[in-house]
Amino acid sequence: MLSASLLFLGLLQLAVSKPLLSKRWEEFDVKHSWVEVPRGWELHGPAPEDYKFNMRIALKQDRFDDLVTSLYEVSDPSHHKYGQHLSKEEVEALVAPHPETVDLVDSWLTAHDIDLSSAQRENGGSWLTVVVSVDQASRMLNTTYNVYRHAQSDDYVVRAMSYSLPAVLHGHIGTVAPTTYFGTMRSMKATSRLQPQIKPIDSDVEVAHKLVGPGSLATVPSSCATTITPACLRALYNTSTYVPQATTKNSIGVAGYLDEFANRADLQTFFSRFRTDAVGGTFTTVRVQNGGDDQTDPGVEANLDIQYTEGITFPTPNIYYSTGGSPPFNPDSNTPTNTNEPYLDWLNFVLAQSSIPQTFTTSYGDDEQTVPFDYATQVCNLFAQLGARGASIMFSSGDDGVGAGNCQNNDGTRTVRFQPNFPASCPFVTTVGGTIRVAPEVAVSFSGGGFSNYFARPSYQSTAVSTFLTRLGSTNAGKFNTTGRAYPDVAAQGQGFQVVIGGRVSSVGGTSASSPTFAGVIALLNDFRISQGKSSLGFLNPVIYSTGVNGFNDITSGSNPGCGTNGFTASAGWDPVTGLGTPDFGKLQALIG
Ligand SMILES: *[C@@H]1O[C@H](CO)[C@@H](O)[C@H](O)[C@H]1NC(C)=O
Ligand SMILES: *[C@@H]1O[C@H](CO)[C@@H](O)[C@H](O)[C@H]1NC(C)=O
Ligand SMILES: *[C@@H]1O[C@H](CO)[C@@H](O)[C@H](O)[C@H]1NC(C)=O
Repeated sequence: MLSASLLFLGLLQLAVSKPLLSKRWEEFDVKHSWVEVPRGWELHGPAPEDYKFNMRIALKQDRFDDLVTSLYEVSDPSHHKYGQHLSKEEVEALVAPHPETVDLVDSWLTAHDIDLSSAQRENGGSWLTVVVSVDQASRMLNTTYNVYRHAQSDDYVVRAMSYSLPAVLHGHIGTVAPTTYFGTMRSMKATSRLQPQIKPIDSDVEVAHKLVGPGSLATVPSSCATTITPACLRALYNTSTYVPQATTKNSIGVAGYLDEFANRADLQTFFSRFRTDAVGGTFTTVRVQNGGDDQTDPGVEANLDIQYTEGITFPTPNIYYSTGGSPPFNPDSNTPTNTNEPYLDWLNFVLAQSSIPQTFTTSYGDDEQTVPFDYATQVCNLFAQLGARGASIMFSSGDDGVGAGNCQNNDGTRTVRFQPNFPASCPFVTTVGGTIRVAPEVAVSFSGGGFSNYFARPSYQSTAVSTFLTRLGSTNAGKFNTTGRAYPDVAAQGQGFQVVIGGRVSSVGGTSASSPTFAGVIALLNDFRISQGKSSLGFLNPVIYSTGVNGFNDITSGSNPGCGTNGFTASAGWDPVTGLGTPDFGKLQALIG
């Protein structure tokens, strides 16, 4: 009797503590899990159950394969649809989720008492944002949320070591954030650094005077071997006599993140020293997700980017995107915080505009293995959408050669392997490595390069990369994935850039300098095409590996050591240090302009 009533009480408790959920929401399969806390992070404590945050859910994009097919058609110079880029509406129609997916996910959310009326649906409905409490999210994903601290940056985030989805939802949901992706812009690597060992110069009047016009490569002054100014780059990459003509239609965007502000006064000082004809030129700041614009706090990365995109493309309109994140985790806050995942914020913001710049550059990245595969795939897919819209997307390749530190895998095995960078490894972006010196340029030793473990080698680079691999033979065998997407695609100077920061000139280096430089040249090519009544270049890789391949200065010496090895060596043709080489604007104009 006693035991029966205890049993009854027990059942009653079970019924009270668990909401009535249909069985299909309780049969979980793991979506992603880590075997160890991501490097650099430490467990701080449990996340408060009533802490609320924005949960982002990527729904399966019903016709994503068609989007990729379209992307390659409009980006392939031999296809009759070349240059016929898609509109925002056309892209959204292709990435929209199937109605069944929407219904199923909505009923799952409703079963967990989520208020759908306040849900935000972006990107053709394929990204859904809802407000959830830690308690709700833990039950939805059969996980435990904790607060983790990034020791170096003192950043706090609410994340999980693993998460699951009901088995029935696995085919309908690409990723859920925030869950297991720990990266924040504060913790990530901006790929630039000050180079105090390179003595800055105050002006380059002499260099500028030596610009004698097209074909002036041989006369690039020897000072450009140590200190880089716009005049050096315009001579080296053969843009110095080009005058932009499509400035009412063509523009270039710089994606900037948390706490990095491009300074207007510094740009004027920069122009007065290094590009006097551009004095008075300016840029537009677009603020995304409460991004700031503190003109008393110039950022090294932001100033480098905008001074060099503008130094090469003036008078082309330049747009600086200042993307905020949430303030750091605050357990006492009652306002739901953003997920603090700026790529998603920036991408969804830009994709929601009906008119976008034709060229973009971004100088951030992280080890690919620290970005969960499901998350990386969804972010990479968003870059494909930008390409289909007709934008060329440049990313720096990273500043650690084939890998930083001990290069151990984080899968529990601690195997030493080359560590590729993401988003550099995404096949839908154009990745830019670094060079130094002039006549000839050589690879800079930190130039990030390698092979993705997530993304297979796209066909546009299969010939170039297999030629390289055949020549490489067994060097570095077992250290990298021979079937992965290989990068960088191209290169540009990456050291000794003269940048004005807080009124003073400093030397700055990194593939962060290479990416805006290359992007600047592409923006001029886009200007040329648009002024001829043609489309923008859009997603570059299919065209640069084919008809554009002879428009590059092939870099054939230097290497990118790392992981206790000599890394790869630059050689004739494509290589994973400098890609196809550095741009020659005049030749590219003739080939793909
Ligand atoms: C939920 O996760 C726990 C471990 O945290 C596990 O023991 C349990 O089996 C999972 N539930 C289901 C239904 O998979
Ligand atoms: C530079 O561009 C011109 C055309 O504007 C071209 O003739 C020349 O070959 C290009 N390259 C060099 C290295 O001069
Ligand atoms: C190598 O890359 C492929 C994609 O091309 C991927 O499917 C595979 O898992 C990778 N292998 C390793 C060991 O990471």
